[in-house]
Amino acid sequence: MFVSDCISINEKGHLTIGSADTVELAKEFGTPVYVFDENEIRNNLRAFRGSIEENYGGRGLVCYASKAFSCKEIYRICKQENVGIDVVSGGELYTALSVGFPAENIVFHGNNKTPDELRMAVENGVGRIVVDNLTELERLNAIACEAGKTVGIMMRIKPGVDAHTHDFIKTGQIDSKFGFALETGEALSAVKAALGMPSLKLRGLHCHIGSQIFDISPFELAAQVMLGLYKQIKDETGTELEELNLGGGFGIRYVDGDTPVPYGEYMKSVSAVVRAETEKLGLKMPFILIEPGRSVVGAAGLTLYTVGAVKNIPDIRTFVSVDGGMADNPRYALYKADYQVICANKANEAKDMTVTVAGKCCESGDLIQENTKLQTVEAGDILAVLSTGAYNYSMASNYNRIPKPPVVMVNNGEARIAVRRETYEDVASCDV
Ligand code: LLP
Repeated sequence: MFVSDCISINEKGHLTIGSADTVELAKEFGTPVYVFDENEIRNNLRAFRGSIEENYGGRGLVCYASKAFSCKEIYRICKQENVGIDVVSGGELYTALSVGFPAENIVFHGNNKTPDELRMAVENGVGRIVVDNLTELERLNAIACEAGKTVGIMMRIKPGVDAHTHDFIKTGQIDSKFGFALETGEALSAVKAALGMPSLKLRGLHCHIGSQIFDISPFELAAQVMLGLYKQIKDETGTELEELNLGGGFGIRYVDGDTPVPYGEYMKSVSAVVRAETEKLGLKMPFILIEPGRSVVGAAGLTLYTVGAVKNIPDIRTFVSVDGGMADNPRYALYKADYQVICANKANEAKDMTVTVAGKCCESGDLIQENTKLQTVEAGDILAVLSTGAYNYSMASNYNRIPKPPVVMVNNGEARIAVRRETYEDVASCDV
């Protein structure tokens, strides 16, 4: 019935998340508000970790891709759950370090890290910096040399597997802005350059084939293609790389038709491919890293809004306007992303209206969902938009100077603030 397992309906007919009544949460914390079920996040991290234990003898590291949802509390949770993290900016790195996240278990990504960001990563002992291009390789080597350190790196490779289309076009990703192309020989020559850098230690290679993927086969193909490159590197340089980072991208349920693969299945299939390929090619089995983002937090979160007005345009559409919108969730405006919407205080009632849920920004494209089924609602009702845990808070803006909503964590019915609501003062705090 619901796209997420942590969502239910209580005896009052109210929607719940992690056993907490969402109508009560809206009253206590105000709206809009992002709410997460902490247990769901922890269970997802444990499922990924467990699948590496079970299928790969524990020789790997789950690195939560924190671009999906970044704040101090999620880094504390990751630290407690003994997983690593992936960061993509000085801001994410700063936040993680500020709660004492172990730098060795941080993977630093980005296609254009600034010299300051690279210096910050080197000075703080980030375990793996994923190098995107030759300019960065040289820049990082110089920064490491200046700091008198040897820095662990991985290199981002475009394996030529296009997963977005669900059709493997082996050269399809060559125009991506990220990383070194494999099929042109660019990747191999960059690896050779990296092996010659005195202040860098090449730990392995990285690839990431896309996001919201429901099919295991592109991941298997990517692992196979990457190991082919490991063999070529071994043959041509005598160096056998120790680690392989296969990125993230595992799909979640936003709406009924979405059919994610159970997280355990992914490592099972990929482990089998890695085992068979390394045996065939005479390679050691590498230490594996994976970077799930959306699949860790996406379905663990929802957003609550208050309905402000219902506007019926006869024979055209009915707008349900809420007190948030594209500033807290830009994904419909950007990607026409699907979401399940429910009236939290009428969750047991039939969905007998077809509506467009609109935000409060001064912009026609500020919509959360179009032509979606909803209970009959009126001003004052609470709307819940499900599966907003990933790429909502992290992509939120202050467009129209709207303060960002707070983040509330629920644990077995108990709620606490993880990020407080922004005030107007916060919004104007950098203005001079
Ligand atoms: N690793 C790397 C190198 C990535 O670029 C990404 C996502 C991930 C891991 C995590 O992927 P996930 O498991 O979350 O699919 N803003 C878009 C998604 C952008 C994803 C960017 N990279 C959205 O809202 O759908």
